[in-house]
Amino acid sequence: MKEIDWSNLSFGYMPTDYNVRCNYRDGAWGELEVSSSEYINMHMAATCLHYGQEAFEGLKAFRGKDGKIRIFRLEENAARLQSTCRGIMMPELPTDKFKEMMLKVVKLNERFIPPYGTGASLYLRPLLIGTGAQVGVRPANEYLFVVFATPVGPYFKGGFAANPYVITRKYDRAAPLGTGTFKVGGNYAASLRASMEAHEAGYSAEFYLDAKEKKYIDECGAANFFGIKNNTYITPLSTSILPSITNKSLMKLAEDMGMKVERRPIAEEELETFEEAGACGTAAVISPIQRIDDPENNKSYVFSKDGKPGPVCEKLYNKLRAIQYGEEPDTYGWVTIVE
Ligand code: PLP
Ligand code: COI
Repeated sequence: MKEIDWSNLSFGYMPTDYNVRCNYRDGAWGELEVSSSEYINMHMAATCLHYGQEAFEGLKAFRGKDGKIRIFRLEENAARLQSTCRGIMMPELPTDKFKEMMLKVVKLNERFIPPYGTGASLYLRPLLIGTGAQVGVRPANEYLFVVFATPVGPYFKGGFAANPYVITRKYDRAAPLGTGTFKVGGNYAASLRASMEAHEAGYSAEFYLDAKEKKYIDECGAANFFGIKNNTYITPLSTSILPSITNKSLMKLAEDMGMKVERRPIAEEELETFEEAGACGTAAVISPIQRIDDPENNKSYVFSKDGKPGPVCEKLYNKLRAIQYGEEPDTYGWVTIVE
């Protein structure tokens, strides 16, 4: 194997040794299969190809200071996938099966888990697709669940560094009663143009307002938003954003730090009042927000004048990372140790 430069990994795909698969046929999930192929052979009329009947997840495994491998919030990811399944009419994968497959893919690819201290981790990408053939718009009768693993570094430039974001008024990611709360590929296809334009204009990611009124904060690119003021952690309540597991964890950690936590609609003007702001997610961890521009409205909301992360973002980031790397006790049972 070519030496991997663990400390300089980007958030990209690198082939690993194995992926783990499970098929759903005749109304039941089958046996686990281990594959070393990076390809999926499927029917050209599969529903995932035509009607977007597909869902994915994202979670990470970390090599701790003690050498142990920890997967963060496995059960929460299983539950969110099940919620997505209900949302787009796919059979739910039982939590036990999900768990067994995540543990297996990590163990089989152990040599790709970045060493402790490099800041990198092993990203797990579970994928559930409708493989049964249909021409009418109907759910498939067959499905494939597959999980692969790939070592990754930071999602946003500079890792834990403050970055600029831009509000996109031209595009919506998801409708108020659409699929925004589910982790389906269509939401990401809908975000590609906005994301490309944001990058071309020099921003880290695009930032969405609610699709109906264009008044409230939704989320940014592939991460949830939070703002900090008056010792309070404030994050949007919306029917079109993904319920981020990182955000859920940060709400708990903020509470533990003696902060108040509010989950409620956040009007754009309120951005002016935040002392700090961040984007959070499995890939993003916490990405402190330097500023959010709203060019069509001639506004710019600045959270970090010197371009450095604020103290609350930093404290939350350090606490979360310490739990993930096993440097601090896992008080809430968020971590599964891979034995
Ligand atoms: N929002 C979107 C649109 C995402 O793709 C993600 C990534 O999973 C998140 C938020 C963050 O969610 P989580 O913290 O569960 O990774
Ligand atoms: C994640 O944070 O796991 C994501 O899914 C973000 C993105 C790469 C889609």
